[in-house]
Order: sequence, then structure tokens, then C-alpha cells
Amino acid sequence: NLLILIMKTSNEIKKEFINFMEDRVHKMIPNISLILINDPSLLFVNSGMFPLVNYLMGEEHPMGKRLFNIQRCVRTQDIEEVGDTRHHTLFEMIGNWSLGDYFKEMQLPGFMELYVKRFGLDVNKIYVTVFKGDEVAPRDDESIELWKKIYKEYGIEAEYSEDPYDVGKGNFRIFGLDKGDNWWQRGNTPGEVGGPDSEMFFDMGVNTNPNHTGPVAINDESGRYVEIGNSVFIQFKLDENLNWQQLSQKNVDFGGGFERMVSVIQGVIDNYDTDLFKPIIKHIEELSGKIWKDTEITDLKVREAQNFNFRAVADH
Ligand code: SER
Repeated sequence: NLLILIMKTSNEIKKEFINFMEDRVHKMIPNISLILINDPSLLFVNSGMFPLVNYLMGEEHPMGKRLFNIQRCVRTQDIEEVGDTRHHTLFEMIGNWSLGDYFKEMQLPGFMELYVKRFGLDVNKIYVTVFKGDEVAPRDDESIELWKKIYKEYGIEAEYSEDPYDVGKGNFRIFGLDKGDNWWQRGNTPGEVGGPDSEMFFDMGVNTNPNHTGPVAINDESGRYVEIGNSVFIQFKLDENLNWQQLSQKNVDFGGGFERMVSVIQGVIDNYDTDLFKPIIKHIEELSGKIWKDTEITDLKVREAQNFNFRAVADH
């Protein structure tokens, strides 16, 4: 099958990411232990930015101001969902950081270039979101203007909307959402860093969540629009009274879930259908004597139920 022959493998995708970052003069920091040392805030590392918190606050990093990593993470909040096509507890994140070096003007065009030119995603299926503003920080007009310019370079006249249900209508490509969607921080204690963010979504063409009915929004659980990366503009820190204060530097903190990204690039709607999980699934077949069932996209509900146990075991 020609499609399979030319499809990028997960290893090729990782290499592509590493090359892209090195071309942009970033240094790779190693994958750290899942168990945090000297950090009582969390049991397991749950995002790629963990080793960088102090440096986002201004401490000088020995490897410089431009960094990237591929970090293994554990997030248990979705453990009850594991078994469907989309959830994981153990996953990897690709990430890049600017520690007070470049800001939105380099991150956002780079983000699009990586996904479209290097990973080969169809720009016509890409949508983005930005922070629409509140009492702490204003609407992120800078990102809105940048995204318009970036889309234009790819031949698209992108328009802005604050209605998440406008997705798929007209030229709406850029969506302004509130704090629940477009603001990132780890916790809510003094010293936490955070800021507005800009996420990218990929249109899967169908609702991949068989339990979703009714209209579709950019940020809902229908599975139609899948989040494939988040650029956080970390520029604030919580003070003693839990008020946000400006940090001394403006940082970029980008993270993207690798398994999800691979499924989008490989054109499958089930993350467990990628080459990351196929060998594990095969091994479970051998051990259990049960068969992974390949079903058509139209059989989503059946498919989700059929392979549920396979996925749960594969994730664990
Ligand atoms: N910190 C952000 C996240 O985890 C981006 O790295 O989504």
C-alpha cells in the first residue's frame, strides 16, 4: 500500500522535530525522571515544562535561552476514559522554550511551519485559538494579527471570531476564547507562572467521539477538532495575594502531545492505530489470543467498545 510506504513513522516525526529545532538554534534538554526530585507540588511529571519552571522566572539556564525536549509524562485525571481512541495516562510531549529570547513573532510562524512544511499537515484543516482577554490581560491582538499574516502566507484570508461554533463557517480560522481555554498555569499557589496561550487544532473531518451529538464547537468534546499544540506566553507570576504580576522576562512555553500528533499526521482517528501502539497491540494479541478489530470509521461506537480493553492494557 503506497500510502503506508510514504507515511511518516513516529521516529521520523521525532527526528523532523529535532532537526527543525536545531535549525532554529535550540538545544535539546534530556528527558527527566517521571518522579520529581525536590518538588512537592506533584507526584509525577505531567508536562514537558517541569524542568524549566525556575528558568521561566529568570534563572539563567546552563544550556541557553532556546531549548526543546521530548518528555515522557503521566496524567491520571483521565484514567477512567482510558480505553477509548483518544485518552492516555502515559504519553510524550514535544516542547520548545524561549527563556526571555524570542516571543510570539517567531513562535507562531514557526509553529505553523513545523506542522505544515515539516510534518506535512494540510493547512486548510488547521484552526487556531487565542486569549480573548479579561481583567488580568487584554485580548491577544498581537497573536490575532500574527495569525492573519501567517495564514495569508499560506493563501488563506483568515478571520477572527469569539463564537466557538463559528468553526467550519466562512473564513473563520482564529477563535478568541476565555481563560478556561486559552490561559495556562500549573497550579494556583504563590510563585506559579502562567500566561495567555494560543492553541492549534486539526479538523478530523468527522466527530471522532461517538457519544457527541448536536452542533460542533472548536473547543468541545466532539473530537472533530483535535488540539495538536499549545504555545503559552509565560509572562506572569502569582504573588503572595494570588494576584498576577509581570515577570521580568517574556517566555514561550510550547507543548504538543506526541501520540495525538502522530495519529493526525498518520491520518488515523484512533491514537492506538499508530505505529507507536501497533507492536504493543500485536503483543497483547499474542498473549491473550484475542484479536484487535479493525472497523470502518462509520462504526465508531462499535469500534470504541470492541477494542477498549486492548487500549487500556496498551496504555498501562
Ligand atoms: N505547558 C503547556 C502545556 O502543558 C505547554 O508546554 O500544555
